Amino acid sequence: MELDSLWVKRDDLTSQLYGGNKLRKLEFILADAKRKGYDSVMTRGGIGSNFCVANATICNKLGLLPVAALVDQPINPIVKKNLLINLYYKNELYYIRKGSRAKWLKLWLNLKKRNIYYMLTPGGSVPLGTLGYVNAELELKNQIDKNNIPEPDYIFVACGSAGTVAGLALGLKLAEIKAKIIAVQVSLFIGYEGTVKLAYDTRDMMFKFDKSVPEVKIDNIIFETDYFGEGYAKPTDEGLAAMELIKKTQKMELESTYTGKTLAALIGFANQKHNSIKEKTILFWNTFNSRDFSEILKKMKYKDFLKIFTGFSKNELVAPDVNFIRKI
Ligand SMILES: Cc1ncc(COP(=O)(O)O)c(C=O)c1O
Repeated sequence: MELDSLWVKRDDLTSQLYGGNKLRKLEFILADAKRKGYDSVMTRGGIGSNFCVANATICNKLGLLPVAALVDQPINPIVKKNLLINLYYKNELYYIRKGSRAKWLKLWLNLKKRNIYYMLTPGGSVPLGTLGYVNAELELKNQIDKNNIPEPDYIFVACGSAGTVAGLALGLKLAEIKAKIIAVQVSLFIGYEGTVKLAYDTRDMMFKFDKSVPEVKIDNIIFETDYFGEGYAKPTDEGLAAMELIKKTQKMELESTYTGKTLAALIGFANQKHNSIKEKTILFWNTFNSRDFSEILKKMKYKDFLKIFTGFSKNELVAPDVNFIRKI
């Protein structure tokens, strides 16, 4: 199936430090942390979390101490890479293998004794982080106005913790762009309602600062659940094939947890709708980092990785066991 007007928003190139969608959120979150005088910034996510790595790279640049609480996720090549990058950037990691409320509370209370800025929501998907994607949409509007790209009819983007989708949906409304967002579900973290609520919460936060921000109706998100596969971070055949295709034709690297599944959804949509969308403009929003970490990775020794895990007391927050290491 051929499309007449298929575009890619290259958020993989957002920064030389760490590309992808993280920087847009961290731009606002870390500015807030600095303004409030915090000296370290804590995130949480899976052991392969891109967000935790992005936070570590950018905190290093800003002179902040990165901290991350990590939980299990299926192992894929990104997990090992990200753990080594965390090691390089001296991310202070806590590993909670089987997350119980009590363990999280204990970790939280201990960290609170220090000057830790705690982002409750993984992925930076709080209104302040989501604002980064409202901004991104205004950037797109600017590109449309300058005729760099035709106004899209559909925007395909991954939906994990939803800040990206929520910000884009709100931004489209504020910029008066009629496009629909096809939000490709890649985790069970947040559903359609939660995504829409985050968009409204972000609008309310903006309104507090600027009373000219209009009321909007968030009705432009189509939640696509068919490309999720067997679970978060579990690759799908369609996703892997989509990655292969874009690598071959555009020399663009995607990964199998978020962007591969999203591109697979776009291909599926094009094949299914066939002639009815042939002339529509479709935008694939690439949210994956494209910074090449290979030089850094060459310097890292995997055995040193154990050193970065920290625990408060025995048997509570413990370093990963041997099985866990072997799995990687
Ligand atoms: C590469 C990539 N794309 C998309 C997402 C999903 O973004 P969000 O959490 O804002 O839904 C993530 C989240 O970690 C990601 O790492």
